[in-house]
Amino acid sequence: MLNFSNTKFLYSAIDKNIKHDKSQIAFMGRSNVGKSSLINDLCQNKHLSKISSKPGKTRLINFFEVSSKIYLVDLPGYGFAKISKKTRQGFSEMIENYLLQNPSAVLVVVLLDIRHLPTEEDKQLIEWLNFQGVLYQVVFTKCDKIAPPKLKAHAEKNLASFPLISNPSYLLYSIKDKKARKNLTQILKKKMEDGIN
Ligand code: GTP
Ligand code: MG
Repeated sequence: MLNFSNTKFLYSAIDKNIKHDKSQIAFMGRSNVGKSSLINDLCQNKHLSKISSKPGKTRLINFFEVSSKIYLVDLPGYGFAKISKKTRQGFSEMIENYLLQNPSAVLVVVLLDIRHLPTEEDKQLIEWLNFQGVLYQVVFTKCDKIAPPKLKAHAEKNLASFPLISNPSYLLYSIKDKKARKNLTQILKKKMEDGIN
């Protein structure tokens, strides 16, 4: 079983100076979608990655060591309106450069807010991952904000916005739901075993 309970913060970096000596699970999605919260929930450590109710909290690529074989990687969110266009471009460049250094070592968890239709940037990310052949898993966040009987319909409507999605399987997640955490751990374990090196 993948065990995240001893995960430790290692270092923050820009896209250069990154070590690709382990397999990596990287969390991507728009600003404020819940990437850092999900990492903390998965590892059951509220102090691991900094979260904020304001978008744009994570500005660097943060590496956490799960074990001698695996890193978790928290990335800056995209689509943050308050930063300049130039900085925003820097953000997506950072994400792209990070991934392109060693795409076969990375499993990407794409986070989408269950309440909102995907943005152009969400679509671009999925298309780009498909194009590069990067393994990914879609996770809908903040599912506690939608009444349970409506969750499936929301998820499917949101997914229908991705014309080229290669893997329509998704997970409904909430940091308030223990079962979701267990399910995600299982999925990540299976994908790591099957896919990346
Ligand atoms: P950036 O670092 O800015 O890209 O944001 P992020 O994607 O890391 O989001 P972060 O984890 O900082 O969370 C943003 C806000 O969403 C915080 O106020 C969290 O408490 C809230 N949040 C995250 N996950 C959940 C969830 O499952 N349910 C609810 N209700 N709120 C959540
Ligand atoms: Mg963050």
